[in-house]
Amino acid sequence: VRIFVPVDAAAQSAGANEVAAAIAREAAARGIAINLVRNGSRGMLWLEPLVEVETAAGRIAYGPVEADDVSSLFDAGFHLGGVHPLSLGLTEAIPYLAMQERLSFARCGVIDPLSLADYETHGGLAGLRRALAMQPQEVVAEITDSGLRGRGGAGFPTGIKWKTALEQQAKQKYVCANADEGDSGTFADRMLMEGDPFALIEGMAIAGHAIGADKGYIYIRSEYPHAVATMRCAVEIWHAAALSDFRVEIRMGGGAYICGEESSMLDSIEGKRGQVRAKPPIPAISGLFGKPTVVNNVLTLAAVGDILAKGAAHYRDFGMGRSRGTQAFQLAGDVARGGLVEKAFGVTLRELVEDFGGGTRSGRPLRAVQAGGPLGAYIPASRLDIEMDYEALAAAGAMLGHGGIVLFNDSVDMAKQARFAFEFCAIESCGKCTPCRIGAVRGKEVMDKVIAGEDRESNLALVEDLCEIMTDGSLCAMGGLTPMPVLSALRHFPEDFGRE
Ligand code: NAI
Ligand code: SF4
Repeated sequence: VRIFVPVDAAAQSAGANEVAAAIAREAAARGIAINLVRNGSRGMLWLEPLVEVETAAGRIAYGPVEADDVSSLFDAGFHLGGVHPLSLGLTEAIPYLAMQERLSFARCGVIDPLSLADYETHGGLAGLRRALAMQPQEVVAEITDSGLRGRGGAGFPTGIKWKTALEQQAKQKYVCANADEGDSGTFADRMLMEGDPFALIEGMAIAGHAIGADKGYIYIRSEYPHAVATMRCAVEIWHAAALSDFRVEIRMGGGAYICGEESSMLDSIEGKRGQVRAKPPIPAISGLFGKPTVVNNVLTLAAVGDILAKGAAHYRDFGMGRSRGTQAFQLAGDVARGGLVEKAFGVTLRELVEDFGGGTRSGRPLRAVQAGGPLGAYIPASRLDIEMDYEALAAAGAMLGHGGIVLFNDSVDMAKQARFAFEFCAIESCGKCTPCRIGAVRGKEVMDKVIAGEDRESNLALVEDLCEIMTDGSLCAMGGLTPMPVLSALRHFPEDFGRE
């Protein structure tokens, strides 16, 4: 009998290792032969540690399980799918999972993350095999046709980026996976790397074939030691299997938010302090060590294998408008059911917050949702009917970013959140350009005066002025987008700023 206990960092933080040890101990004591598999997370984080048992009818879930529950679980015959107060029924039938459209995360939580055989049985490697039999131009065309856009936040068409790199004449080119997942409330990159690491490597190998690169780097933030360990093992297994000529190296992040900006990331991989480079040239023309480099987010690359395996049309058929395919939304903050929701673009924020998230965990009324990380807009609870796609959000003065959705209840003070945006920027600014380096510090000071009730209107006018300068004059998204949370808070919640 196969029993699954996630090894994912979120599950471990909720006690999964203790649960796994208790299951192994109890099974041995009772003379029950089990095969304990440490899988990735299914992404239903409020149910972690989520233990699953394989039965003839499918996998049966129990959760959240504590080590102290294990003895009573065995008493109830859970290893045969027996009923227990923690029973959740068939995993796939849990509405949170059943309502999703999982393409990139289809294997996450299902397979043993470090079993290449399991990966292949569940559809892995088919994309790479098809790609290797195609000309690079054909692979690029397939990605272009799929409509895939960069999932790091900017939504730039992946096919165009790859085409730019393919067209460069150079002996050495690189593919870099950006896994410096720095946005507050986001964890999809980590979950994928810990639950289905070969999906990322396969996507990179396909990108390598498409642009003519035989070398890749995965840049993982230093706060993700579990993901680093899993990816290191996965890379070794991948290399040993000799599936293609593509070689991968892991690099540990420099510990700064700005190292997630692609040009800072390249500096950091080169061994320098992560600092934003002036563009042009874009990395696709001159990137790592001055060579043509495709930098893609983990989620972008994780979508690639499936697109090649099933064809561009399959992926393109999901989504709306110019936002094709699916997005991994991540629900966090004061949310009853936090976790990962992969859904086609066009799902409304209300569906995500209410149907999936179940509203606030505290039970207090929802006041605002911040979408797209710390540089994203605050959307008031009255506007949850917005459709989640790049263009619809941009039209509403918001952004999708990396898909993070953080819920705030009615106790939030939006003036303090605006101050926080400036403070965050002041701490994380790389210091290269003045509007961001100085502007963020001044913004925080002025917001302190607003919060203290000092000369409010003229200080708010200063804030608005400063935001205009930061938006127009900053070199990168850090300084350029900090005004988004500030101005959205001011626009939708003027009462918190002492305005009528
Ligand atoms: P960008 O719009 O400058 O570039 C997007 C991508 O397209 C880059 O990889 C760029 O090199 C590439 N590109 C642009 N023109 C090209 C061309 N003609 N040919 C080929 N490639 C081309 O945006 P940027 O500064 O890379 O990212 C900003 C976004 O990052 C923000 O919208 C924000 O949502 C997101 N973000 C994500 C974070 C995370 O943790 N994932 C953290 C902070 C911000
Ligand atoms: Fe550096 Fe800020 Fe300028 Fe970006 S906007 S280059 S983080 S100083």
